Formats: sequence, structure tokens, C-alpha cells
Amino acid sequence: MTPVSYSRMGSAGRPVFVTGAAGHVGANLVRRLIDDGVRVRVLLRREDNNEALDGLDVERSFGDVRDFNTIGRALAGCQGLYHCAAKVSTVNGDRRHRREVFECNVLGTRNVLQAAWEAAAGRVVVTGSFSAVGYKLDDPSAPSDETLQFYPMERTMPYERSKVLVEHECWRAAAAGQDVVVATSCAVVGGNDFLPSRMGRTLCDFANRKLHAYIDGGFEFVAARDIAEGHVLCMQRGRSGEKYIFSTEYKTLREILDLFEDVTGVPRPRRQFPARLMLVFSEVASAYLSRFHPSFPQRLTPGAIRLLRQRRHADISKARRELGYRPTSIRAAIQEAYAFHCHRHAITNPRALRSGVGRAEEGDGRCPEQGMTTRGSSV
Ligand SMILES: NC(=O)c1ccc[n+]([C@@H]2O[C@H](COP(=O)([O-])OP(=O)(O)OC[C@H]3O[C@@H](n4cnc5c(N)ncnc54)[C@H](OP(=O)(O)O)[C@@H]3O)[C@@H](O)[C@H]2O)c1
Repeated sequence: MTPVSYSRMGSAGRPVFVTGAAGHVGANLVRRLIDDGVRVRVLLRREDNNEALDGLDVERSFGDVRDFNTIGRALAGCQGLYHCAAKVSTVNGDRRHRREVFECNVLGTRNVLQAAWEAAAGRVVVTGSFSAVGYKLDDPSAPSDETLQFYPMERTMPYERSKVLVEHECWRAAAAGQDVVVATSCAVVGGNDFLPSRMGRTLCDFANRKLHAYIDGGFEFVAARDIAEGHVLCMQRGRSGEKYIFSTEYKTLREILDLFEDVTGVPRPRRQFPARLMLVFSEVASAYLSRFHPSFPQRLTPGAIRLLRQRRHADISKARRELGYRPTSIRAAIQEAYAFHCHRHAITNPRALRSGVGRAEEGDGRCPEQGMTTRGSSV
């Protein structure tokens, strides 16, 4: 059998298919593919916020990954598929929520893989989550690589469990002969965050001086452009049936807030609450909200706090060695995110703009409004 050249995929002829293209990862990936001269077809949900695709030269198809037939029709004629769509959530939620997470993520992935197989669409790159990667039980903060099995004997979020099952769908398909690679993402930071993400909302709250305290803990973060690059590398050079972890840097929350301070010029909150204390509070608040106000947005959930407390580190040597992955920097990703949210006027506090000269340097991605302020114009 002649090997398929994935490096040329989508550059002529058949388009590459991207699910979840309106989301944070998808929006960055689509832009990266367009920059590479790749022809792209996206899957969107008609009734949702699809601003991320406005003005982009892509083919649009509409459907829900839970509906096998629409996926099959939507990807007809495509060669190469990036499956980024998922219900991303850190809440335990009510029954309805948990069912939605399972159906979108696990059954949705099964549908996408099956439809790609039937359409002979070639390689499928599926976005995985670092929360579904295992860790050393005696030392959860020791760097985890792709070989560590998820530990299911502990309270975990429905989303985490669903992403483990997503991988299971991928390995099942790969064992049956399908060409599948998993691109495992850590917490994403960066621009083109239209929905926006939890990290994006936290940055906006910070710059608008609505963030008054933080907790201890840390996690692996990946720049939006690095995870887009990771997906492309998986498509071009990944081995079928394998997963690759993509991270940019490990940061404590305090370090992230120090970077926010540097980039926005707004001082970080000085009050730090112990994560253990916040966990007790968030258990009660989250259970109440999930039961009585299930659509109320929850930020510091028990699941998120648990992950932060574990201070999980990622070992990305496999992606470096096999794919030539080279991470950029989280500071640059935060600058890009800040510029993006300023541009969209999601950062509105004039004090943030006035003091925003900060320590960021010229031409580093600060918002245009901020630059005008430093030259003495009114806000
Ligand atoms: N963001 C992170 O920090 C992070 C970390 C680890 C892994 N990941 C993984 O990265 C991938 C992308 O996440 P993201 O951060 O880009 O999330 P996101 O911004 O919430 O975007 C998810 C996208 O998936 C689409 N989607 C969800 N359910 C769908 C369904 N049933 N049918 C069709 N489309 C559906 C959403 O469409 P609508 O806009 O119509 O809702 C949205 O465009 C996911 O697989 C996620 O698990 C993300």
C-alpha cells in the first residue's frame, strides 16, 4: 500500500475537515491551516456562536457530532480530519449535563471515527485532554508521559472520564485498522478565544479588576498556537494508534497571575486562599448550583481545584523526539490573549487601560487602545 502524504493534505484537491472549529482550539487550528494554504471544511452548529469563522475562507457544513448521518454527509469528499469538538466542562452537573458530556464527547467521537472510516477520509487527529492522562500515584506532580494509565479510583469529573473513553474509542478504531492519532492538550491560553474559554474569562476579570483572590496550585498550560501546531504535527508525522502530549510550560497560579500583571499592568490580587479550604466551599456551592441553577456558570469547581492541587506536570519528550515539537512561551500566549480580548472590548475597565502601560514592551501584542492611552489620548 502506498503511504499517504499527510504533509500535502488539503493543500490541493480534497479539503481537510475540522470539527469544533468555532471553539478555542478549532479557531486557532483553522487559522493555522489556512496560513499553510490548506483547503478547510468546518463543522458548525447552526444555532450557536460561530463568530470565530467570520470572514475566513472556509467551506461551512452544519451538524451535530451526535448525529451520525449529518456527519457522514458533511465530511463527504474530505481527506484528513481534525476532531476538536467536545463539551468542555469542569462541573459535575446534573443528569442532563452528564449525559450531554457523554453523548457529545464519547458517542460523538465514535460517530466521527465511523463516518471518517466509511468515507475513506484518511487520518483522524482527535484532541485529547491532559486530565485523561495518568500520574504517578505516590507523586502526582512528577511529570506524566503518554504511558501512564488514567487512575479511575478517585473522584473525577464527568468530562475527564469522557475524555478517557474518547481515547478508548480511538484505540478501538486504530486496532481495527483505522488511522487515528490523539493530540493531547493541556489548559489552553491564547488568542482567537471567541466563546470565550475559562482562562480567557479569568484574564478579562483580572484586567477588569474583578479578581480579588486566588488559590495555590498549578497546572500545565499550552499556547493556542502550540496546540494548533501539535495537531498539524500529529497529522503529518504522528504514528497511528499513538497519543502525544502538547504543553508549553508548567505554571503555578501565582506565576500565571504575575504574568497577567506584567502584561496588563493591573496588580495581581495579594490574597491567596488555601486550595483545601476553597475545595470545601466549592463542593457545597457547586452541588447547590448544579442542582438548582444548572446553567449558572461555575468557575472554581471542585474538579478544577483538585487538578490544580495535584500540580500535574507533563513530560513532552515524545512529541519533541518523534514530531519535532518545539513549544513557544506562555507569556507570549497571554499577550496574544490580552490583545484579542482588548480588541473585542471584553476588557473594559479604563483603569486597566490607563495603567496598562505595564511592563509589556512595544509591539508585544498589547491592545491598540492601550498604546493610544500611553500617548496621552483619552480612553
Ligand atoms: N481548552 C482547554 O483548556 C482544553 C484542555 C484540554 C483539552 N481540550 C480539548 O480541546 C478540544 C477543543 O476544546 P476547546 O477548548 O476548543 O473547547 P470550546 O472552545 O468549548 O470548543 C468546543 C467546540 O466543540 C463544539 N461542539 C461541542 N459539542 C458539539 C456537538 N455535539 N456537535 C458539534 N460540535 C460540538 C462546540 O460547538 P458550539 O460552539 O456549537 O457549542 C465548540 O465549537 C476538546 O476536545 C477539549 O476536550 C481543551
